[in-house]
Amino acid sequence: MHFQNTRISNLKIQQNISLKNYNTFGIDAIASRFVSVNSIDDLIDILAVEQNIFILGGGSNLLLTNDLNKLVLHIDLKGIDTIKETENEVFIKVQAGENWHDFVLWAIENDFGGLENLSLIPGNVGTSPIQNIGAYGVEIKDCFYKLKAIEIVTGNRRVFTKDECEFGYRNSVFKNELKGKYIITSVIFKLTKQHHKLNTTYGAIQTELEKREIKEPTIKDISDVVIDIRNSKLPNPKEIGNSGSFFKNPVISKEQFLQLQKKNPQIPFYEIKATQNSKLTTHNSFKIPAGWLIEQCGFKGKRFGDAGVHEKQALVLVNYDNATGQEIYALAQKIQQTVLDSFGIELAIEVNVV
Ligand code: EPU
Repeated sequence: MHFQNTRISNLKIQQNISLKNYNTFGIDAIASRFVSVNSIDDLIDILAVEQNIFILGGGSNLLLTNDLNKLVLHIDLKGIDTIKETENEVFIKVQAGENWHDFVLWAIENDFGGLENLSLIPGNVGTSPIQNIGAYGVEIKDCFYKLKAIEIVTGNRRVFTKDECEFGYRNSVFKNELKGKYIITSVIFKLTKQHHKLNTTYGAIQTELEKREIKEPTIKDISDVVIDIRNSKLPNPKEIGNSGSFFKNPVISKEQFLQLQKKNPQIPFYEIKATQNSKLTTHNSFKIPAGWLIEQCGFKGKRFGDAGVHEKQALVLVNYDNATGQEIYALAQKIQQTVLDSFGIELAIEVNVV
């Protein structure tokens, strides 16, 4: 392959490079041009001359089904700074290119509370608000204060408040109206310095703490438990390519749920209480674990070439070695169709398919 480097200002732009090490699925797609950016000034310089870009963070929520004939901007901004403190709260500004789990561990070492349930989630800080990452009863929105971003078309800087991010279940304004319009450069979190509000309500955490005879857990205890639970059922992307949950857990109406429950009395569910001022509904709805639906359809642990469904968590699709993005996507579509035919439920893909 012809390999040639060009430059924008002082930045070296590589040509025709494999993205295999830049996405946790380990898909060997080619970027026609690629640059790592570690300063906001460089980012603004690039946007002034180039708009045909693809923004790459930690690559942990991404399925590449094609080569990218664009300039791939790898956001590599680094730094963690305390910007304000009160008696019980601390405001921490984290640059987009910091690894999420390293930041969580940093917070725990400093005894800053709020992120412990979100331990071991792959990816970078800058992409965490886009899908409002969540696990074990906590979502990033619970500790989010503000974020800073750059508008791609104008190069203008903008601050987003929590309300402006429009966070929802694995959702935000950056997956909807503002999709592809901004580059998130840093996120400010509001964490607790004392009187941490621990969230141990998620079944597996409580059971694990009891097993360890921990009655008054610290944030470190919770983080340790979450790390162990995740390691016990989610594949490590360094060993088997994957992107965490491939689908969202579907939310269905009470009516549809009761019909399903009649046929499948053992169906697991979480009831979502309708709030009076909810814009969407005034009735309770039911979230069904997509992993259960997929398992019932017989896909758990199944392998089709190098694409497969994880043996311990059916919501996770895996690349055993050299699957292409299209092979993984074809498997995802087959699963969607089978779940639809069997249960009448549409599974929405959670991962960004490109
Ligand atoms: N289940 C099965 N079979 C499976 C997997 C799950 O029957 O193969 C059923 C079981 O009843 C189980 C229930 O599903 O009790 C829930 O499973 P789990 O606790 O693993 O959680 P999940 O609903 O499948 C969600 C998030 C995960 C997060 C966990 C824990 C989504 C799309 N996924 O999974 O997030 O770690 O809860 O909070 O909401 C991610 O987004 O990448 C991710 C890993």
